[in-house]
Amino acid sequence: MKQIVYPVLALAALFFASCSPKSEMDRFVDQLMSKMTVEEKIGQLNLPVTGDIVTGELKSSDVSNRVREGEVGGLFNLKGTESIRAIQKIAVEESRLGIPLLIGMDVIHGYETVFPIPLGLSCSWDMEAVEKMAFISGQEAGADGIAWTFSPMVDVARDPRWGRVSEGAGEDPFLVSQFSRAMVRGYQNAGILPCVKHFALYGAAEGGRDYNTVDMSRGRMYNVYFPPFKAAVEEGAGSFMASFNEIDGVPATANRWLLTDVLRNQWGFKGFVVSDYTGILEMVDHGIGNFEQVSLRALNAGLDMDMVSEGLFTYIRTGLEKGEISPERLDQACRRILEAKYKLGLFQDPYKFCRRSKENPDSLIFSDPHRALARKIAAESFVLLKNESVLPLKKSGTIAVVGPLASTRENMAGTWSVAARLGECRSLVEGIRDAVEGKAKVLYAKGSNLMSDEQLEIRSTTFGRTIPRDGRSDEALLREALSTASRADVIVAALGEASEMSGESSSRSCIDIPDVQVRLLEELVKLGKPVVLVLFNGRPLTIQREAAMVPALLDVWFGGSESGDAIADVLFGDVNPSGKLTMSFPKNMGQIPIYYAHKNTGRPLEKGKWFQKFRSNYLDVDNEPLFPFGYGLSYTSFEYGPVQLSTEKLSGSGTLTASVTLKNTGEYDGKEVVQLYVRDLVGSVTRPVKELKGFQKLLLKAGESTTVSFTLSPSDLGFYDAEGNYLIEPGDFQLFIGPSSETQNAATFTLE
Ligand code: BGC
Repeated sequence: MKQIVYPVLALAALFFASCSPKSEMDRFVDQLMSKMTVEEKIGQLNLPVTGDIVTGELKSSDVSNRVREGEVGGLFNLKGTESIRAIQKIAVEESRLGIPLLIGMDVIHGYETVFPIPLGLSCSWDMEAVEKMAFISGQEAGADGIAWTFSPMVDVARDPRWGRVSEGAGEDPFLVSQFSRAMVRGYQNAGILPCVKHFALYGAAEGGRDYNTVDMSRGRMYNVYFPPFKAAVEEGAGSFMASFNEIDGVPATANRWLLTDVLRNQWGFKGFVVSDYTGILEMVDHGIGNFEQVSLRALNAGLDMDMVSEGLFTYIRTGLEKGEISPERLDQACRRILEAKYKLGLFQDPYKFCRRSKENPDSLIFSDPHRALARKIAAESFVLLKNESVLPLKKSGTIAVVGPLASTRENMAGTWSVAARLGECRSLVEGIRDAVEGKAKVLYAKGSNLMSDEQLEIRSTTFGRTIPRDGRSDEALLREALSTASRADVIVAALGEASEMSGESSSRSCIDIPDVQVRLLEELVKLGKPVVLVLFNGRPLTIQREAAMVPALLDVWFGGSESGDAIADVLFGDVNPSGKLTMSFPKNMGQIPIYYAHKNTGRPLEKGKWFQKFRSNYLDVDNEPLFPFGYGLSYTSFEYGPVQLSTEKLSGSGTLTASVTLKNTGEYDGKEVVQLYVRDLVGSVTRPVKELKGFQKLLLKAGESTTVSFTLSPSDLGFYDAEGNYLIEPGDFQLFIGPSSETQNAATFTLE
């Protein structure tokens, strides 16, 4: 028996929506649109380049005239209420119809108070914290003129070479969907409009090279890459951003199947879709037509707003005249944008997002409570990857803090921190010095540059900043570090990537720690003292050698403005680490892509083996990651009891409760992320070897034990076919509950 759930519900929803009486918003927009000229409608679809992403200032004064003429629907990358209020005033008081502008910005993981990069945030597995971070970011941005954020990015990503894995929540569709919901709720509760991006499949670029071709089966789209977007629609997200990549040979920006059939007709999305930066114009390079053709094709496919290209602005008029665009389609796109403005309250009060002024320097922005929360959340995002009785450190003796990431404030915020006060971020050495309160001696040496002189200097295309380089030679830096470290009892080595090495247009073909830093680590280890490796990174790195060299390894991603204090909190045990990985760490580059929810194949390799004849294997490495999805240590230890099921047969409207006892068997209070996975043993199509279906993060005092329960119903156990129908198939399932995706703690049940 096959149950097809989805299309029936969608049709019912469409039917009821079409029967409802006109709302106040509909009447308002009807009336406004009845006064608009075609040019004014086209203007609403236009999101021209406006501000400089670094300074936040207007790029050209021409924008004011265009706003006055009604040629602009929204603007982005302006910073500060003074400039935003001034331009809004022109729209409201000097344009013919006084339609307010939609002001956007990339507020990705904080505004002036910066939280960990999203990949780090997801490693907290704490969706309340994620929602809080979005709420605070929304509050700060919303007080400073911003009504619309180009966030969350909910692209599932399984290739760590792709620099933008730092902006997402990892490899798993279930977890990224929870993240997506939490982010959307947080922004909405703060009163700003989220823009869910990049729709879709952007995280699957071939070879992990940004903007590269994507080619994927529909089954994988629906089951792996789409769920976080669908979840955002269900949370009521009001805007989506089309991705740069192609899907079935047609760029998402002009992909009618994606933007209309899936997003609107299957999922019932009611908001508007904006292109990514010059997404329309880039379709000329993709090779699907000239500028006019691609612009009209995008509009007809269901794209409503044009970021930067000016293609819709330039060609809709002639498209209408030639009959290639219908007036209804223009009206529809214009209406969707006006509705977003209405829902934000901009028609009632166009200056509602401009509370901050010189006289009223909004007390929330970069406030102590916000920073305290950012510190707490950062500490929850760190993942303890190894600890052989070295951590937590004592606040006594002599501690040498060494490495190119030890004393740099600028590198703490991570990618896409456009509103951050980089100079006020807290560096690691500052955090450690303050934490020991004079009880320990803290020494510092830089030890090396981030990269050696021979290596290519990586320049951030996003922010135009170069990676800072010390004038001294690598040899001189190393000598100084060794002499400093030799005087210490313990060495904290702060190594990894510069923040510019991940993010947009920052793919790497090799994801090692740069050589010059590895050399420093090797020399430090030779001193024979305990070395704690504090790893800064925007993506999983290949660190097999380094992990073997040191007794303790803490992954801190880029923790945001309060990084230094948060890291010190964990190093000294004031906070017990509780983060778990949301992306697998490969042993080497050749294993990529590597993810826990893989298929079994017809010739699975036995675990731990790296060579068996005629198996799906490599001749030189096994198939397991260095650190798996869901993995992370604590200063305490947890013991899991066997999985107990309320029933071994699940059917119809029934539910199944799965429980384990969990005991904190160590000496510290600590939080554990309990994870539930299922394996659908037989399907009409092949199914992954494990799929995350639930998780809970709990605090247990030392010695305490508790029962952890999850409830599943048949609808949690289905999957999508290639047409997007959700199928629930009877059969046998394994259900696992444990501390990571590698758990074998399982029971079986049958879905009838
Ligand atoms: C990025 C988007 C971003 C947009 C606006 C693009 O290059 O892909 O993620 O929101 O720029 O800054």
